[in-house]
Amino acid sequence: MNKLGMISATALLVSATGAWADEVSLVCSAQPEWCEMMVAAFEAENPDTDVLMVRKSTGETLAQIRAEAGNPKIDVWWGGTGDPHLIAAEEGLTQASGVDTSELLGWSQNMAEISQGRAIGIYAGALGIAYNTETLAGRDIAAPECWADLEDPRFAGEIQVANPNSSGTAYTELATFVQLFGEDEAMKKLAAIGANINSYTKSGSAPSRAAARGETGVSIGFMHDMVNLASQGFPLAVVAPCEGTGYEVGAVSVIEGARNFEGAKAWVEFALRADIQSKAQDVGQFQVPSNSNAQVAPESPDLASIKLIDYDFATYGSSETRSRLLARWDAEVGDPNPQQ
Ligand code: G6P
Repeated sequence: MNKLGMISATALLVSATGAWADEVSLVCSAQPEWCEMMVAAFEAENPDTDVLMVRKSTGETLAQIRAEAGNPKIDVWWGGTGDPHLIAAEEGLTQASGVDTSELLGWSQNMAEISQGRAIGIYAGALGIAYNTETLAGRDIAAPECWADLEDPRFAGEIQVANPNSSGTAYTELATFVQLFGEDEAMKKLAAIGANINSYTKSGSAPSRAAARGETGVSIGFMHDMVNLASQGFPLAVVAPCEGTGYEVGAVSVIEGARNFEGAKAWVEFALRADIQSKAQDVGQFQVPSNSNAQVAPESPDLASIKLIDYDFATYGSSETRSRLLARWDAEVGDPNPQQ
């Protein structure tokens, strides 16, 4: 037998014993630094395993999973906003892993219930507005306090946000506006804000990074990403909009037909552990962790002090609602220069 034959015979033997060593294929929709830290920590605990990780935005990942249905290249999808995870569950593109969820907080259990155990909440974070204090002061522009302020012509060309087709963050914004103002009014408001947008990005955190560097005056995104940048010394102020705001429950899902189900399940168990979730703050990730025994970073925006809507995950995490809202967004708001 040649060397290659021996290797594959060994691999067969390993899988016949039920061991899941070798490779786990992961798509990560959280921040790249957190993805990399998680992969390194998992591989350190499981030295026989290589995690093949790609970072992709949440909407882009849903598109990939749909395209690969029946022949998935991904075993497990970790991070990113919960709505597309719920849609993947509804469409039968993900499967329950049967892990223990007893230590998880109510909002995480809620996601597992809606998806029949296919999507499990790993973190929560609220949507907000950030502005570069130096840029706005330099241009004598009054700071925004409300979503409605972003429609004002004083912000012409000053605002950046992601495209809701690719980004879970921007879909959370779209769904939040619909829940705050009703569908027709939400589209009008998003179109009015659209007149002030300088660019729709692919990823949800890019606008706040641009605001931190002074490349745009204002961004819409998750407050924990903004706080992370402010804690690095960038002149970024974070606003909880006066009308109230929505939030995400970031999730983890095992892909239906995963080639390495046991490896994917081991990743889910790992990602739900309190000690692992507590490490997020070491790399500046300030979401609220879903494990009730995990440490909440002192920098984490206090969700109890923010006027949060009662975000309806069952409705906005359904395939029908997302398709309808995105079609309306494309027609009534639209991105004049979509990024490839
Ligand atoms: C950032 C945030 C996460 C969020 C993710 C969504 O990484 O830190 O909390 O889940 O964005 O990414 P997306 O590119 O899909 O908006």
